[in-house]
Formats: sequence, structure tokens, C-alpha cells
Amino acid sequence: MKAEIGVIGLGVMGKSLSRNLAQKGFSVSLFNRHLKGKEESVALDFKQAFPELKNSQAFDNLQAFVASLESPKKIMVMIAAGTAMDELLSQITPLLSVDDIIVDGGNSHFEETKKRIKLLQEKGIHFIGAGISGGEYGALHGPSIMPSGNASAYSKIEKFLKAIAAKDAHGEPCCSYIGSEGSGHFVKMIHNGMEYVEMQLLAECYFILNQQGATNFEIAEVFESWRKDLDSYLLEISVDILRKQEGGTSVLDTILDQADHKGTGKWSSIAISNLGTPATLIPAALLTRYLSFFKSYRIQLSKNYPRPGFSDQIATAELKDAYGFARIMNHYQGFSSLAKASNQYQWNLNLSTIARIWTQGCIIKSQFMMRLIDILRKENDILSHPDIQKMIRERHAATQSVVAASIRAAYHIPCLAEAVQFFHGIITADSSANLIQAQRDYFGAHGYLKKGDPSGKKHHTEW
Ligand code: 6PG
Repeated sequence: MKAEIGVIGLGVMGKSLSRNLAQKGFSVSLFNRHLKGKEESVALDFKQAFPELKNSQAFDNLQAFVASLESPKKIMVMIAAGTAMDELLSQITPLLSVDDIIVDGGNSHFEETKKRIKLLQEKGIHFIGAGISGGEYGALHGPSIMPSGNASAYSKIEKFLKAIAAKDAHGEPCCSYIGSEGSGHFVKMIHNGMEYVEMQLLAECYFILNQQGATNFEIAEVFESWRKDLDSYLLEISVDILRKQEGGTSVLDTILDQADHKGTGKWSSIAISNLGTPATLIPAALLTRYLSFFKSYRIQLSKNYPRPGFSDQIATAELKDAYGFARIMNHYQGFSSLAKASNQYQWNLNLSTIARIWTQGCIIKSQFMMRLIDILRKENDILSHPDIQKMIRERHAATQSVVAASIRAAYHIPCLAEAVQFFHGIITADSSANLIQAQRDYFGAHGYLKKGDPSGKKHHTEW
């Protein structure tokens, strides 16, 4: 019997997705390369380990794997982003026929996906870039899936992706066609950028409470109390992490404070800079991860520059408001970056649909994301929506107070601070950028626009 779909790459995500596909009743062929001494008999061992795979076929020979699939062939590739994908495509393309479909479910760069779509199109082969969020658990029980590329090719694999995707509050799959080219991987990349900020904000709240003497259990109780109206996957797992003990010791206290990153946060920062959007929080969260790697230098400097320690107690109610305020800024910046990309690349992204498929399955799923489905139906710019304006007004003063007290105490809270600074910038009608223009004209004769002169003519002064 020919299999309906094939999966290449049986790492954490590939295995979970394969099991998810099999559990939904699809016949699946499994492939993992043979690497002597490193990856041997991976597909066969995997097949034998899970009863739902008993009707699957296992291969480490690519030709036999491709031959085992019904036509048009549909293959999900779950391997590392970058050159590994190009190497695989060079091996598998000669084995494929017109109208066969490759789905790249890795965290590939959207510009590489655009190139791959074009390259395979010349051979009549379809390439779909699908951002997949939710980690190992999500891949097995229901991820959020952001596919893009050729719409007619997508329609041929839609049933598979929608079957395995998480379901939203109305039972609809958290999978929707995003748009052309690599727009799906772009959306996933921005998801990851927002994820960095959400994680950093929780880390800063944890830090403030810790510095004020709260134990991990007490911080877990505070975070748990926030879940009533600020619930999210990341808040929920942070409560679990804070409560996790091994041998009577908090696991969290044993973890070295150096935050790793696989690259999507860097790509997001570069992409938003290229778009010219002032999405200031994603770079702030990324660069804070870089700073965390200066561990020995931080220890050395901490001896020369003792921090004053906290001055005035920061109330948990105010901290909660600051956290909620900063999350609004993160979501504004993320969605406005998507809106800018949609215009710039002519992707015609549906922001409300993207919010919907981010309400389950993905890492940044949250109650707030559910509110955004309706808000983004009316308004791409969430700061202009009355409901959001009310949320901001209710939390602004507390945020200022938390940031001010933290700065006086020399706490490092880059994203909480940047959130309120960004807000102050975006609501300042007359800024100080005129002095920058004057300076540029003074030393570089770059010229400047004059207030009240709509002509767009550049003026220059002999300073
Ligand atoms: C997801 C996650 C995932 C991410 C890893 C590591 O949506 O499931 O975002 O795709 O790549 O969690 O990310 P970093 O190493 O960049 O933190």
C-alpha cells in the first residue's frame, strides 16, 4: 500500500508530528538518514516503539521512501534550518515528479523559503513553508501551523495539517493558509520574536520579586494569581518551573543564568529593522540574552559596582499591571510588524486569522490573544482600539511606578522599561528628532524638512 504522507527527519518535532499524523488515521512513511555511529535504524526503531505506527513504513533509503508514497507525493520535512534543507532538496528533487509537494516544517528563514519555492517551481514541484509552533507537546497533541506558498498546493495538504493542528475555542484548526512566498515562516519568526519578549517579561517579574525576598514558591503563587485575567502558556509553565523541586531543591535555582537562542529572535530583529518598524522590544529581549552570556564579566563587575538593592517595595498588584501593560506593547509591535511586512511584500496577511491560530497550540497562546481576534478584525493598529486604550490607561501609572522603583534599585528590567519608554515615544506628538536633523545638517549637510512646508523639499542651513 502506498502511504498518504511521508515525514523526513525524526528528531523531537518530526517524531511527534509523525505520531500525531498516525493517530489521526493517516498512513505515514517515515524516513531518517543513516549516519554511521550516530543515526542508525532511527525510523525502524521509532516505528517499533509506538503502536500507532504499526502500519507505518520505516526507511533510511531515500529512494525507497519516496517510492512508498502515493502520487502526488506529500512529504513533511522536519530538519534543521539552513544548508541541511538545501542538501536534502538536492538529493530528493531528482526523485520527485510534477505536482509533488514538499512541506518545510522547520524554522527556516522566510527569504530562503521564497528562493526554494521558486527553485522547485521550475521543476513543477511545490514547496510549502510551514511555521510550526508548540514544541514537542504541541507537535504531538496539536501545534499551531502557519503554512505559505502555492495556494493550490496547500489545498492538497490542508487536510493533513488541519487534522493534526490544535483546535481553537470553537473547535476550528489552528492552521490557516497565511499567504504567498515565505510569509508563513515570516509569521512564525515574528511569533518567536514575541515569544522572546513574553519570556523576558516573565523573567523580569520573577527577578523583581526574587530581589524583594520572595521565595520561588511565593513567586509561583503570585504568578498563579495572575492567571485569572492574564493567562498564557508561558505564565502557566513558569508557575510549574518555580514549583519544580528535585531532592528538596528548586530546579530553577540550579540553572545557570545564560539564555540560549537558536536564531529566530535575531532574524526577527533584523527583519523588523529592514522593515523600519519601531518594534523595540524584540531586539531588547534578544540583546538581553546576549548580555546573559557575559556571566563571568557580570560577576567581576558586580564586585566593582555593588547594586543599591531595592529601595521601595514594589507591590505585586502594580507589578501585575506593568506586566500586562508591557504585553500589550509586545503584541502591538508584533502585529504592526506583520502589517508592515504584509504591505511591503504584498502578502495580504489576515492579522485576525493569525491571532486566531495563535490562541492554541503555540508558545504565545494566551487569553489576550483571544481578545485580539476580534480587535484585529476591526483594527490593524491595536493601540487605536478603545478596549486596548482602556487597558493601557488603567495600567500606565503602575508601570511607571514599577520601572522607576526598579531603576532606583538598579534592577535590570530591559523589556518592562522599554515597553513604557516605547509607549511614551509613540504618544509624543512633538519629539526631539528636530535636533537630530539639525545636527545631521550641521555636520553632513543632509538637509531637513521644514514644519508647515508640505512640498517635501529639503532645506539646509549654513550653521
Ligand atoms: C515554538 C518555539 C520553537 C523555538 C524553540 C527554541 O514556537 O515551538 O518558538 O520553534 O525555536 O523553542 O527557540 P530559541 O532557541 O530561539 O529560544
